[in-house]
Amino acid sequence: MERRVISTKMQEEDIKIESSLRPQTLADYIGQEKIKDNLAVYIEAARQRQEALDHVLFFGPPGLGKTTLAGIIANEMGTHLKITSGPAIAKPGEMAAILNGLSEGDILFIDEIHRLNRQVEEVLYSAMEDFYIDVVIGKESGAAARTIRLDLPPFTLVGATTRAGDLTAPLRDRFGIVSKLEYYTENQLMDIVSRSSKVFNVVAEKDAVREIAIRSRGTPRIANRLLRRVRDFAQVYNDGHLDLNVTNHALDALKVDGLGLDEVDLRYLRGIIERFKGGPVGLESLASAISEEATTLEDVYEPYLIQIGFVNRTPRGRVATPKAYEHLKINFNGTLFEGEF
Ligand SMILES: Nc1ncnc2c1ncn2[C@@H]1O[C@H](COP(=O)(O)OP(=O)(O)O)[C@@H](O)[C@H]1O
Ligand SMILES: [Mg+2]
Repeated sequence: MERRVISTKMQEEDIKIESSLRPQTLADYIGQEKIKDNLAVYIEAARQRQEALDHVLFFGPPGLGKTTLAGIIANEMGTHLKITSGPAIAKPGEMAAILNGLSEGDILFIDEIHRLNRQVEEVLYSAMEDFYIDVVIGKESGAAARTIRLDLPPFTLVGATTRAGDLTAPLRDRFGIVSKLEYYTENQLMDIVSRSSKVFNVVAEKDAVREIAIRSRGTPRIANRLLRRVRDFAQVYNDGHLDLNVTNHALDALKVDGLGLDEVDLRYLRGIIERFKGGPVGLESLASAISEEATTLEDVYEPYLIQIGFVNRTPRGRVATPKAYEHLKINFNGTLFEGEF
């Protein structure tokens, strides 16, 4: 009983900490320099003209800071942020209601915007372009349906997606600002981990911070998650002192390898190499061979494996590169490296 109370408290604390980790201003947002520089100009210009900022689309793998940027934009513009997501809006009427509830200058953040259904998406076209929507009335009552035009206050739509390629052309074309988020460098991740450890009020040694950064797959969300778990190990085994030794111990226990690859990454690579002779193999076949969702592999796992040069996407399918073989200590002919076992 007591345990459960404690664990619930821990979870609440975790959520609070998570939101306290989100930078609130462009100045506090680490990395993505080009995006930040451009946004600073657009925000300043919009503020001077006292207009809503142009619509913004952020795309890139999960955990790189898209939602965080939406919050920063609202904060820097001094306006309100309304948050929803593509799969959460089922009907055009729901989208119309959300739009109708906006005030001048508001930021409407739509996460996973590629998952809006077509009819809902179409409501956005006139809203984004000319700030009005056509609302159909009288349909339910059986009377002849008619359309009325509803004007909207100028607002800013901020969309986020892991797959920009899935956006329809009419939607994509309505964003004035389109930015791709990049994976973070080791130094940037070290800055993020240092910043977070200050929020957590823990003292972390520099080589421990570096180790967490190296094993974070270029991704702030993972860096913060690893830091939280390492902090637990440090608290229990090392008087709260976060040094390299306890960090390595914790990360190994979490089965995050030296490059930050987790069990799914490794199953993916072994899948290509051991079950499909290194490829090429189609995504669907690979996904079913290792019992993962194809979209998860494509959105979450592949981008990083491609980025570090472990996998190539070819017209005939996925291919593991020599670097992947080397990391798994498997020779090209499929035998294990000598002397390893
Ligand atoms: N540039 C950054 N600087 C510092 N922390 C960041 C940065 N980008 C992301 N984070 C942290 O990583 C976490 C995940 O970011 P989030 O914006 O939710 O990613 P996304 O929406 O792209 O999946 C956030 O809680 C935030 O604390
Ligand atoms: Mg997000």
